[in-house]
Order: sequence, then structure tokens, then C-alpha cells
Amino acid sequence: MSTHIAAKEGQIAEAILLPGDPLRAKFIAENFLENPECYNTVRNMFGYTGTYKGKKVSVQGTGMGQPSLSIYVNELFQFYGVQKAIRIGTCGAVHQSTQVRDIILAASACSDSCLLNQRFGNLHFAPTANFDMLFKAKQIAEALNIRHLVGSVTSSDLFYDENENWKLWAKYGVLGIEMEAAELYTLAAKFNKKALAILTVSDHIATGATTTAEERQTSFKSMMEIALETAIAE
Ligand code: HPA
Repeated sequence: MSTHIAAKEGQIAEAILLPGDPLRAKFIAENFLENPECYNTVRNMFGYTGTYKGKKVSVQGTGMGQPSLSIYVNELFQFYGVQKAIRIGTCGAVHQSTQVRDIILAASACSDSCLLNQRFGNLHFAPTANFDMLFKAKQIAEALNIRHLVGSVTSSDLFYDENENWKLWAKYGVLGIEMEAAELYTLAAKFNKKALAILTVSDHIATGATTTAEERQTSFKSMMEIALETAIAE
């Protein structure tokens, strides 16, 4: 057991899905995995392991924001042998090329967080997805005929950003704003692991467009198909 995860050695799969919401992790385990078993209830940050098409896959809630994700991903990479981590979540679109319900495969993640400064000082690290996973996820999305975009996102520490920094990010081609991917990619680089963030666009910050509960459910299912197929791909 690690500080925040109560699993025993071998209870967590090498491939793991990382939703922010722990109840989402429970829902995914119960609806998308075969024979799910809960390995963590510490702080109600549920984690489950089951199989998908016969292959072992885990799903772990991370909480919202990079500091919370950082705790879980540090422990998963360092103590549980996780090799492939896929964040699944939502983002707010900022770029004109992006529409609500789209799926974004995040090739890279900019950030306004001081986490990068704490590690790198004046140096500027570029948090990047694992190319093999990104390529595989794109092939899967194409094969399933799911509309998707590949590009950069920004992981912000502020959900309520009064400075409207999204305008500058959009000017530089950033597709959407979320709150976790940059730290996931940074930790994957540090521990020589593979990571990818797959996001559905839940709202459009520039246009004010939002999704209905039904639309969110449909894009969620598409995102799950891409994520699970990518998780079990060789
Ligand atoms: N900002 C940050 N994270 C988000 C947003 C947003 O507007 N929408 C969904 N996740």
C-alpha cells in the first residue's frame, strides 16, 4: 500500500484509465469492465481493476487539478508498476476549430501552473503525449468513425479564470482548457512511462455553447471506446 492507495502489489494493471471523478471510475468499472474489483476507497478516491476483452485494465479517480492527479500518478508509476496511463475527462473549447462534443487527443499540454516552475525554474519543459499511444488512439478513432482532433490543450490551475487567459492560448492554437494533462505527461516523462489524455469538449468557452446530458453521454461512450482500445493495444 502507498500513502493514498490501498492496493496490494499486483492488484493494479499495467494499463490504467484516469478519470478525475472517482464516481466516474466506479461507473466505468461497473459498466465497461468485466469482473471489476475495488482496490481503493481511501478518501473515496475509488480504484478498480477488471478486464476488457480479456485484458487486465484498471481505472482510478485522480480528483480535480494537477496537484491531486500528481499524488495518485506518482504512486501508480512508482509503486504499482503502471506503464500506460490514459486520462479521460472533459475540457472547455477555446479554439474556433473545436466544437462541443468533439474528442481531443492531447498531443501536448501547456500550463499556467507553478508546478512546472517548481521543477524546472527558468527552463521550459514541454509536456508531451506518448507518440505510440497517440498514433494508436487516432487510428482507433478513425476506424470507429469518431470525430476527433489532435492538438495541444492547456492544463490550468484556475477553472474560474478572471484574466481570460484562454484568449491568448487560443491565439496560439490551443484547442481546449482542462486541469490535469500537463502533470500527467511530466510524470510520465520523469518515470519513463507512457501517457495520453483523451478529452471530450463539454462546453465552448469562446462561444458559450454547452452540451446536453444526452450529448455528453454519447461523447463519453466514444471517448471510452477509444481509451479502452488504446489501453489494451500492444
Ligand atoms: N476549464 C477548465 N477545465 C474544464 C473546463 C473549463 O472551462 N471545462 C471542462 N473542464
